[in-house]
Amino acid sequence: MKIGMLTSGGDCQGLNAALRGVAKTLYNEMGKGVTLYGIRDGYRGLIEGDYHEMKPDDFSDILTLGGTILGTSRQPFKQMQRPEEDSEQTKLDKMLKTVKKAGFDCLVILGGNGTHKTANLLRENGVNVVTLPKTIDNDLWGTELTFGFQSAVNIASEVIDSIHSTAFSHSRVFIVEIMGHKAGWLTLHAGIASGADVIVIPEIPYSAKKIAQAIEKRAKDGKRFSIIAVAEGAVSREEAAMSKKEFKAAREAMPYPSVSYRLAAELKELTGQEIRVTIPGHFQRGGAPCAADRVLSSRFGAAAAELIREGKFGNMVALRDDKIVAVPLSEVAGKLKTVPPDCEIVAQARALGLSMGD
Ligand code: F6P
Repeated sequence: MKIGMLTSGGDCQGLNAALRGVAKTLYNEMGKGVTLYGIRDGYRGLIEGDYHEMKPDDFSDILTLGGTILGTSRQPFKQMQRPEEDSEQTKLDKMLKTVKKAGFDCLVILGGNGTHKTANLLRENGVNVVTLPKTIDNDLWGTELTFGFQSAVNIASEVIDSIHSTAFSHSRVFIVEIMGHKAGWLTLHAGIASGADVIVIPEIPYSAKKIAQAIEKRAKDGKRFSIIAVAEGAVSREEAAMSKKEFKAAREAMPYPSVSYRLAAELKELTGQEIRVTIPGHFQRGGAPCAADRVLSSRFGAAAAELIREGKFGNMVALRDDKIVAVPLSEVAGKLKTVPPDCEIVAQARALGLSMGD
C-alpha cells in the first residue's frame, strides 16, 4: 500500500508526533506491506508532484520536535488569486494527477479548517483520504480538541504569567493579544489558566466602557494592575452590528496594527491609565509539543492508521468523551467550532469574577 502524507496550513506543536504515530502504527501492523511518502509543503507538493519515499528512520526522534518535518503552506484555495497562478480547477486537476501518477492508495492529511475543505474536495473526486485535526485555534468542528491547542495554551499562559510581575511593579494595565483566528478558545483557556482579569473573545463582542469599568473597579479594590487577554479576532459591539462590507471597510480604515492597540487607545482615553500591549504572536505556535499534545497526537496517529488498515476512508479522527472516533469529512468540511457565548466554561469564568468585556 502506498500512502502519501502531508501537513497543511499554519504549523503547530504535535505535527511530527502525529506523523510518527501514523507511521509507527502502520509499520508495526503492516510491516513491508506499506510504503510511506512525504509530500512537501502541504498541497503545494501535491500540486507540483513534490514527494519522496520515507523510511522508518525518518520518523525517529521527532516525537518532541516542533514544526513539521514535511514543511507546510497555506491551503491553495480561497486565497487571492494572482494572475500568474493556476485556477482552482487546474490546481485540483494537478493534485489528482499526482495522486494517480504516484499510485497513492491513500492520503493522510494533517490540517485545520481550510485544509479539511480541500481534503473533502479530494474525497469527492475519488481520492481515499484520512485526516487529523491540527490547529492551535481548536476551532475545527467535530472534535473536542485539536492537537497544538494545549501547547499553545501553555505558552500563552506563561506569557500572561510573566506579565503579572511587571504589571504589578509599574501599576499598569496590560493587554496581551492571543492568537486563535476567529475563535476565542485559546484566549479563554489561557486567560483562565493565568488569572487574567478580563477576557475578550470574538464570540462575545466587547464594550470598551465595560472593560474600563472592570479596570476601575479593580483599582478601587486596591489592585495595582489589570491584565486583559484579548483574542486577535475580537470585535467591538459597534463592529458586531455592522454588515460584512461595513466591517471590512472599518477595519481597513483602522489606524492601528491590531484590535489590541485600538482597545489600548480607547482604555487610555476612558481611564487615563497607562496601557501596554504585548503580542506573543507566532511564539505560541513554536517549539516542542507539551506532554498532553504528544499523547493526543500519538493517539490520533494510531487511530488514523487503524482507519487506513480497515479501509475506512473519508474520515477525520476526532476526540469525543476521551475516545478517538471517526467523523465523516463531509460533516467537518467548512464548519467552524467557535465558543458558544453561553457555554459552561464562559459561565465559570464569569463565576470566578472575570469580566468577559461585555
Ligand atoms: O491558525 C493558526 C494561526 O496561528 C491563527 O491563530 C492565526 O490567526 C494565523 O494562524 C496566523 O497565520 P500566519 O502564520 O499565516 O501568519
